[in-house]
Amino acid sequence: MAKSWHPKEHSVIKETILEKYLRPWFMKTSSGFRHVFYFDTCSGPGVFKNGVIGSPIIALRKAHEIWKVHPKTKYHLVFCDIDSETIKTLETAIDELLCEFNDSFSDEVVIKCLNCDFVDDFQKILGHASSRSSASFFFIDPYSARTVPFITLVEATKKNSSEILFNFMLSDVNRNLRFWTSSDVQRIMGDERALDGIEDIEEISKIFSSNLKKQTGSLITRYSMVSSKKKSPLYDLFHLTKHCDGISIMKEVMSSLSKTPHYFSNDDRYSKDQLTIFMPGSNYSFAEVLRQLVDRQEMKVEEICDFIVCSDKFQWSKKDVRAHLKELLDNGQIEVTSGSKTINKNSIVRITEET
Ligand SMILES: C[S@@+](CC[C@H](N)C(=O)[O-])C[C@H]1O[C@@H](n2cnc3c(N)ncnc32)[C@H](O)[C@@H]1O
Repeated sequence: MAKSWHPKEHSVIKETILEKYLRPWFMKTSSGFRHVFYFDTCSGPGVFKNGVIGSPIIALRKAHEIWKVHPKTKYHLVFCDIDSETIKTLETAIDELLCEFNDSFSDEVVIKCLNCDFVDDFQKILGHASSRSSASFFFIDPYSARTVPFITLVEATKKNSSEILFNFMLSDVNRNLRFWTSSDVQRIMGDERALDGIEDIEEISKIFSSNLKKQTGSLITRYSMVSSKKKSPLYDLFHLTKHCDGISIMKEVMSSLSKTPHYFSNDDRYSKDQLTIFMPGSNYSFAEVLRQLVDRQEMKVEEICDFIVCSDKFQWSKKDVRAHLKELLDNGQIEVTSGSKTINKNSIVRITEET
């Protein structure tokens, strides 16, 4: 069943994003918390038939890497899949990897492979992270949008220092929207009236995002994967965090996979005609955002960075902000009013009269 599912390039990109994000996430949380939890609610087999590595193995490798740096932290990985064969395959893949590590990590790490419906057992799953000093990361990657009740996402954000990476399967929404009853809409969108008169997929994802924002108070970034060939939405990847560090790292990760600020791809072959990944609704001009923020005042570069990077309205990472400021400085659109005339975090800048 699930094991014979062959992930396509768009899902490999999803794993790349997960991999790039988990390293700094484990690093950061394991230095501040005694326990860190990685929950993979729809884990899959860990290694697919075609040899592609899945999310559980990626997470386990990252936890191992960071354990070598912060060995005193307790690492917990909870995997759940509804398919019993898939869980068996996963257990084997995990055993093999732990053997390969050939160190005491296998005695230290706590791994649970659960054959269950994560929705039915969600409270039990959450119970695994009952320790007070803990941070949790949820990777929720179902086949269909209908699998994940909105309320489950809300519940996950209530845990201390939790983050979510959620795959909202728009291709499935597109296919099945006409069959949704009002109780489906309530279950998926968190509000049974959410879609009254709305059929446009991009609009649905926007409403989903704004409902999530309202009901969780999280910083939310949404990255859309669109098949360029068919121009049809595949899925939107939602990242939910309550921490500036979280959103900042995610922007950094996406930016590192990026060819332009609105375009993300980890491979030229995909970028040409297969897949675009972008952050929708974030095509503000940097100069305009800066003008509104700084106005006629002076402002420290560090404050500008924090304001922009910690906001889920803008796609720019810290590096992007510095690069844009440097460009504006070179073009004479801003000036540095104190210290050395270059851009660093302590420089104070203002917008020039002519701009
Ligand atoms: C898209 S695949 C997961 C891929 C995996 N996250 C990866 O990146 O390697 C979806 C998996 O979710 C499982 N699944 C579907 N519904 C589920 C549910 N309600 N509870 C737990 N697992 C579920 C399926 O059996 C399948 O293995």
